[in-house]
Amino acid sequence: MLSEMPSRNTGAAASFPIDEVRAQFPALRVGNRVYLDGPGGTQMCAPAIDAMVRHLESGTANLGGDFRTSIDTGAMSDAAHAAMADLLGAAPDEIGFGPNMTSLTLSVSRALAREWRDGDEIVVTRLDHDANVAPWLLAAEDRGVTVRWLDFDPDSGTLRIDTLPALLGPRTRLVAVGGASNAIGTLNDIPAIAAIVKAQSSAVLFVDAVQSVPHVITEVAALGCDLLVCSPYKFFGPHQGVLWGRTELLERLRPYKVRPAADRPPARAFETGTPSFEAQAAMLGTIDYFDALGTRFARDGASRVERLRAAFHAFQAYEEQLSARLLDGLRSIPSVKLWGPATIAGRVPTFGLTIANCRPERAAEALASRDIFAWAGHFYAIEVVARLGLAESGGLLRLGLCHYNTGEEIDRTLEALAAIAKRTD
Ligand SMILES: Cc1ncc(COP(=O)(O)O)c(C=O)c1O
Repeated sequence: MLSEMPSRNTGAAASFPIDEVRAQFPALRVGNRVYLDGPGGTQMCAPAIDAMVRHLESGTANLGGDFRTSIDTGAMSDAAHAAMADLLGAAPDEIGFGPNMTSLTLSVSRALAREWRDGDEIVVTRLDHDANVAPWLLAAEDRGVTVRWLDFDPDSGTLRIDTLPALLGPRTRLVAVGGASNAIGTLNDIPAIAAIVKAQSSAVLFVDAVQSVPHVITEVAALGCDLLVCSPYKFFGPHQGVLWGRTELLERLRPYKVRPAADRPPARAFETGTPSFEAQAAMLGTIDYFDALGTRFARDGASRVERLRAAFHAFQAYEEQLSARLLDGLRSIPSVKLWGPATIAGRVPTFGLTIANCRPERAAEALASRDIFAWAGHFYAIEVVARLGLAESGGLLRLGLCHYNTGEEIDRTLEALAAIAKRTD
């Protein structure tokens, strides 16, 4: 029974509390839905919703005033930056919030490109979401910079890291890679990529961690990158974006911003205009949710960083079990083809599929008619879908698991897929 799964890091009696987890997501109580749309956006946990409402009900304000609501909003915002820093193993001043990952990346690309010169080079990949490709292509076009592409192996879905050294040189200014693919789930080996990039160039390493942060422990120092972005709405929190950067680099960059917004901590220089304080409050609630869960798995007296890591360790162990169950079932439906890593190793629980004789959008519709929510298409991973040769045939059907899904939901989805696979439209 999946709901009584042992956690790897305690070894003892603690088991994954799936019923308690699900009780913390109001949207999971609506109807009889199966949410497999997590890579597009997860449901929000109750502590995040409550914190957002509490902030608004108790009075919100802009920052810098001497009155109660402004002071409280400032304290809450500082606490949200500190909480996010703990989730990423960073310092609070290195964290900036923004509307979403795409806006932050466009803004960072503009600031970085101010340093680029005609004839410089950058590296982007064929495995990334377009939000980690197009901003760099646009900046390169503006500055006369040459774009080099890191390919992936279409059979295994893994980046051709072996070809990376040949793409780097003295003029390489940036390497932009993803933590995990939003289309086929490949989990990239960022420390290995960082080691190559740092040994062979002075390039800035930018990581789009939107799809890895929800599933694995993220520790920026261990990753070895310079900048990292993620989106809390993909990990049970509010619609928001997060930027982390190394202090020395952030201090060097000159983001586009209005003149009075000087003297902010380095990453907050990218927080242009008035932010969504209610989203920051919800972010704090999201971290509280992870923290409370992590307390069950961490040693007594553990720090918040350790408790957060313990929570993600437990999520990962549980998601691996769900993934194994899905992969087993998929193997028994011959007309289903899985793209990307064939096993649970080297991947997050995001599965890109095609079904012979059934276009992805038709399959998604058929699942939706059974209250199983999944996306079909390219999910903005246009390079991935093109490289796999699936652009003309409608892309992929994507099943995205996360720690609030259950084994029963996997079985229900497999039954539905088996029925869809028998159709001939
Ligand atoms: C890997 C990846 N990067 C970037 C994005 C864009 O994120 P945002 O919606 O926060 O701009 C997404 C959204 O699906 C994504 O999956």
